[in-house]
Amino acid sequence: MATPEKVRFGFFGAGSIALFRHGLELSQNPAAEIVLVYDPIKSRAEYLVKHFGGKVAASEEEILKSKEIDAVIVAAYNNEHARLTIAAFEAGKHVLCEKPMAISLEEGSAMVAAGKKAGKKLMIGHNQCLMAPHLKAKQLLQEGIIGDVLTFRTSFCHGGPERWSQDKGPHTWFFKKEKAYVGSMGDLGIHKTYLLPWLLGTDIAEVGAFMDVLHKKDDKGKPITVDDNAMCILRMANGVIGQLTSSWTFYGGEDNSTIITGTKGYMVLGANPDYQVEVFLDNGEVIRYKVGAMATNTVQVKSGIPDLFVDCILDDFEPPFDGIKGYKALAAVVACMESSEAGKIVKVQNELVPVKAAGVAKKSSPVKKSSPAKSSTAKKAKKA
Ligand SMILES: NC(=O)c1ccc[n+]([C@@H]2O[C@H](COP(=O)([O-])OP(=O)(O)OC[C@H]3O[C@@H](n4cnc5c(N)ncnc54)[C@H](O)[C@@H]3O)[C@@H](O)[C@H]2O)c1
Repeated sequence: MATPEKVRFGFFGAGSIALFRHGLELSQNPAAEIVLVYDPIKSRAEYLVKHFGGKVAASEEEILKSKEIDAVIVAAYNNEHARLTIAAFEAGKHVLCEKPMAISLEEGSAMVAAGKKAGKKLMIGHNQCLMAPHLKAKQLLQEGIIGDVLTFRTSFCHGGPERWSQDKGPHTWFFKKEKAYVGSMGDLGIHKTYLLPWLLGTDIAEVGAFMDVLHKKDDKGKPITVDDNAMCILRMANGVIGQLTSSWTFYGGEDNSTIITGTKGYMVLGANPDYQVEVFLDNGEVIRYKVGAMATNTVQVKSGIPDLFVDCILDDFEPPFDGIKGYKALAAVVACMESSEAGKIVKVQNELVPVKAAGVAKKSSPVKKSSPAKSSTAKKAKKA
C-alpha cells in the first residue's frame, strides 16, 4: 500500500487543548490537514475551523463515517475518551487521545485492545517528556551525571483549570466527578506519573497518598467533587523513592519542577527560569544548562505531540507515548486515589486488566461513583 503523504484529521472536542495545541500545531504541519471538527458546543467547533481549517461536523458519526479522515484527536471530557477512542478504532482511524486516557483501568485496557485489534496507532497526549528541560534531564541521567538515582521530589501545581478551560469559572466540567473522575491528580499529577517512569526507566510500583478538596468550590458554593490537592509518595520498581505533589490551589503562579538526587549529586529541573536544568555535584561543581522553557498554561511552548503523531503514521513507527505507558500513568493515579480513600499503601496495577464490554462508559452514562478524597470527598522522543 502506498504511504500517504498527509494525515487527515477529525477532532472530537474544540476546547482549549484542541485550540492551543492540536489545532495550532497541526495547522502548521504541511503533512497534516484538519478535515472535520465536532464539538457539542457548535460555536467552539466554528471558532477552531475559522482559525485552523476544516469544516464543522454535525455529529460524531459524521467524523467516524468519513472516508476522508485517517486519524482523530480525542480532546473531549475525560469520561468521553474511551468511548470515542474505541469508536474511532472500530471505524479504522488512528487515535491521539488526551490525558488522562480514561476514567478506569478497564477503559484504558479496552482502548489498548481496540487499537491492537484495529491495527491502528494509539498515542496519549503526554507532552511533558518532549519539554526541553525533561529531554536534557533524560540525557544527563543516562550519562550518569548524578550517579545512581536515589530519590526525587516533583510538583505540578497551578491556580486551577477553571482559568484555562473554555468552561471558565466554577461550573467547569473539570470540577465534576462524573465528567472528570479525578481532579488535580488526573489533570496535573498524571503528567508526573508519566514523566518519572520515562526519566528513570522504571515503573511506579506502590504509592501512598492524601488527596483532598482544600479550597475549590463549585458554582453552587459547595466543595468540588474531585481533589484540588494531592500529596503522594511513590516507590519505583527499582527501589527509588520519591514525592509527587499536584495542586489546583497554587495561586499566583505555576510550579512544574523536579529535584532528582543521586549518589554523586542532584539535579533541579524547571525551577530557575534562566537555567532550566541545574546540576550540583558532591565535588562542588555546578553545571547550568539553558535549554528552553517549560510550557505553562499562560505561555504555551510548541509541544511537538501532534507532529510526532503525524510522523508515527507516515513513517509507520509505534508512538513512543503509547497506550500502555498512558495506562500505567493512569494506574498510578488510580492507586493514589485508592490509597487516599483507604489510608494505606497501594500497589500499582501496571498490567492491563481483562476487558469486559461493560467496562467502557456508554454515551452520557454516569461513571461509577467512588470518592477520590477521603475527608471531603519527533523523532527525538522516538530515540528517547
Ligand atoms: N496534555 C495536556 O497538557 C492537557 C492540557 C489540558 C487539557 N488536557 C486534556 O484535554 C481534554 C480537554 O480539555 P480542555 O482543556 O480542552 O477542556 P475544555 O473545557 O476547554 O474543552 C473540552 C471540550 O470538549 C467538548 N466535548 C465534550 N464532550 C464531547 C464529545 N463527545 N465530542 C466532542 N467534544 C466534546 C466540550 O464541549 C468542550 O468544548 C481533557 O481530557 C484534559 O484533561 C490535556
